[in-house]
Amino acid sequence: MSGETYGDRGNKDRSITNPAGMGTAMPVKPGGHAHPAPGGPFLIGEAMTGGYGKGADILHGCTIAVERGEIAVIVGPNGAGKSTAMKAVFGMLDLRSGSVRLDGEDITALSPQDRVKRGMGFVPQVRNIFPSMTVEENLEMGAFIRKDDFRQTMEQVYTLFPILRDKRKQAAGELSGGQRQQVAVGRALMTRPKVLMLDEPTAGVSPIVMDELFDRILEVARTGIPILMVEQNARQALEIADKGYVLVQGGNAFTGTGKELLADPDVRRSFLGG
Ligand SMILES: Nc1ncnc2c1ncn2[C@@H]1O[C@H](COP(=O)(O)OP(=O)(O)OP(=O)(O)O)[C@@H](O)[C@H]1O
Ligand SMILES: [Mg+2]
Repeated sequence: MSGETYGDRGNKDRSITNPAGMGTAMPVKPGGHAHPAPGGPFLIGEAMTGGYGKGADILHGCTIAVERGEIAVIVGPNGAGKSTAMKAVFGMLDLRSGSVRLDGEDITALSPQDRVKRGMGFVPQVRNIFPSMTVEENLEMGAFIRKDDFRQTMEQVYTLFPILRDKRKQAAGELSGGQRQQVAVGRALMTRPKVLMLDEPTAGVSPIVMDELFDRILEVARTGIPILMVEQNARQALEIADKGYVLVQGGNAFTGTGKELLADPDVRRSFLGG
């Protein structure tokens, strides 16, 4: 049950967290949005409204954020706009209103590539690897913005995901689902990001592989990289989350710590299967 599976991540340094955000899980009124911590979260997409091209708005004042040293998890039903919110934070959507800030700086107008240069790593939900390229080539592609020697980072990725070292000369498309997700996360780590965004890193993998991937993600978080991730496995994800966001129809339905959301009767009934 809660907490026991993954234990405590041991992040006791509350100086980097927001005491004001530690209340009970808060239902958010439609159109309302969560308020950032004093000093601001490390990465925040705040009050985002917008959709794809000239289509109808998908996001309606949606806010997602992650603090320094933390893991934030976004859950919600299919079609809620979780991936859209992630893409908006990464700059793949033209927002009609709202803003994105990284380390206090407004980056709303930056292209995705410029956001990568500023330290954002993003693993999208689909098409997150180059299947015909080898594992190693995928990692090299991940380092595309780097002009320096990235061998050491590649070694770190291989240490984190040993199976990738074994399969480094194999086409990434030949790997299993869980292994491919490791390639995708590894690729994103190659830029040495300051913050990592993962959209359903455990999609389509078995429960055992899911546990392993969560462990690796926790390991990455312990190196000090804040992680903002979308997860279909809501209960397990909230167990490792410092902060959780439940999105419904493009807006914030509930926001709280992972523990608060797991304990909230409404959240349990509606999104965690009771
Ligand atoms: N590229 C796109 N062009 C137009 N509409 C899109 C596009 N991608 C998603 N949508 C629409 O945006 C809405 C939200 O989709 P989104 O993929 O963000 O949901 P999600 O919460 O990530 O769902 P899932 O849990 O299935 O991944 C849906 O109605 C979807 O049809
Ligand atoms: Mg999605």
